Amino acid sequence: MKKTIDEHAARFDSIAGEYDDSQNETEEYRACVSLVVEHAAPTPEDVVLDLGCGTGAIGLSLADSAKRVLGRDVSEGMMDQAREKAREAGIENVEFEYGTFREPNVGSAETARVDARDARVDIVVSNFAMHHLADAEKREAIHAIAALNPRRFVLGDVMLFGDSDAENPLYSPEVDDPATVGLLADALTDAGFALTAVEMVHEQFGVLVAERSPNGGRDVPE
Ligand SMILES: C[S@@+](CC[C@H](N)C(=O)[O-])C[C@H]1O[C@@H](n2cnc3c(N)ncnc32)[C@H](O)[C@@H]1O
Repeated sequence: MKKTIDEHAARFDSIAGEYDDSQNETEEYRACVSLVVEHAAPTPEDVVLDLGCGTGAIGLSLADSAKRVLGRDVSEGMMDQAREKAREAGIENVEFEYGTFREPNVGSAETARVDARDARVDIVVSNFAMHHLADAEKREAIHAIAALNPRRFVLGDVMLFGDSDAENPLYSPEVDDPATVGLLADALTDAGFALTAVEMVHEQFGVLVAERSPNGGRDVPE
């Protein structure tokens, strides 16, 4: 990670008010949002976890079709924007709470015994956030996601379809650390997912859809 979690949180806190307007100017961002929402496709029974939820672009779009949406992020400023948008839209089946990729804060085995609803996650989504982690941390994060036993994980992000160093980066190399698609695909399959769709939005942006392998059961490989 090129910045610590606290540094990322402070940076996003400081731009939270302008974030939606600036991102929505970018065609690649809008395309990834649409594809992540389309591929997530929750049913009314599904609990959706949105990691690095920011101002709620994905989670709020899915709330209407899901049972419940859990937004997790490290920036309270970004989540305040998401909470305000939920309030204005009258969306009540979403919550936005602190959580990281590696510790998503979605309930422990202890709470699961008390209230299974707290621990169940059917679909995990993440858009434009995992690229803040170093590659080894992305692998750990993908294992942490697999350990939640979702049936689907949809990842939209800055990702490199070509060489590991883009010649003309459309991201900020001083803070962003995108992986190659190959590394992400390996990490997903190592964690027990099968890659079922790869959507290239641009050679530096894409959406990956991963499902539990049919024989993957509910156990996560070590
Ligand atoms: C570029 S924004 C994307 C927000 C949203 N998903 C979207 O599509 O608009 C990245 C978000 O990731 C969050 N973030 C960065 N590092 C994180 C981490 N380790 N765990 C959870 N969230 C993180 C930031 O606070 C920020 O809100």
